Amino acid sequence: MAELGVFETMYSMRAIRRLKPDPIPEDTLRKIIDAGIHSPSGGNLQDWAFILVRDAEGKRFIRDHYWGIWQKLQAGRPLPANLPATQLRVLQAAAHLAEHLDEVPVILLACARKDYPPFARAGYDRASVATVHGSIYPAVQNIMLACRALGLGTVITTIHCCFEEELKQHLGIPAEMEVSALLPLGYPQGKFGPTTRKPAEGIIHWERWGQKG
Ligand SMILES: Cc1cc2nc3c(=O)[nH]c(=O)nc-3n(C[C@H](O)[C@H](O)[C@H](O)COP(=O)(O)O)c2cc1C
Repeated sequence: MAELGVFETMYSMRAIRRLKPDPIPEDTLRKIIDAGIHSPSGGNLQDWAFILVRDAEGKRFIRDHYWGIWQKLQAGRPLPANLPATQLRVLQAAAHLAEHLDEVPVILLACARKDYPPFARAGYDRASVATVHGSIYPAVQNIMLACRALGLGTVITTIHCCFEEELKQHLGIPAEMEVSALLPLGYPQGKFGPTTRKPAEGIIHWERWGQKG
């Protein structure tokens, strides 16, 4: 099978929330993580770890907490009558993912060291946090691109941050690490892309803020 070009991969890598339960070969999972860690990181410290949860008990634990938070967030918030159909579909798909999270073959947790020592020890907390997230999220993006290239669907999510301490305790994640992203991985039930975005023209400023060219 011919490999996708990088632009085709990016432009067709939409969020996939409905996934088949079919297992993902271990070699494929290793390949995805290897692609992920070929991303940049602050000082090239590579202070990250990736947990691949495949066992039923672990996935059930995550699903129960994730779904609980989802329901709490939605409680007492009826959908506005004029919600555009596209947004309604996203919400329905996100709810489906939350309720059926334990049915996906793999839940990937991207973990990062909570601080970036060169900034943290000098008291530059804002720079420390920016470097932590600026290091783990490029790896997550690489992972998503690798998934797309290999025919796997995924979506980046952060709801687990609402139960992060319980999650860390359950999976034995060390105190100095955070869980930066949760990604369900699986073969898609539907089709990939294309993604729709606002035109780039509206957000490009030439030379200084406000100068639209
Ligand atoms: C930081 C972040 C958090 C997100 N959290 C969730 C989430 O909790 N649940 C979910 O289904 N999608 C989540 N998403 C996915 C977004 O909804 C998705 O990327 C966006 O709607 C664009 O989708 P598209 O690429 O299919 O157009 C999150 C995305 C980001 C970047």
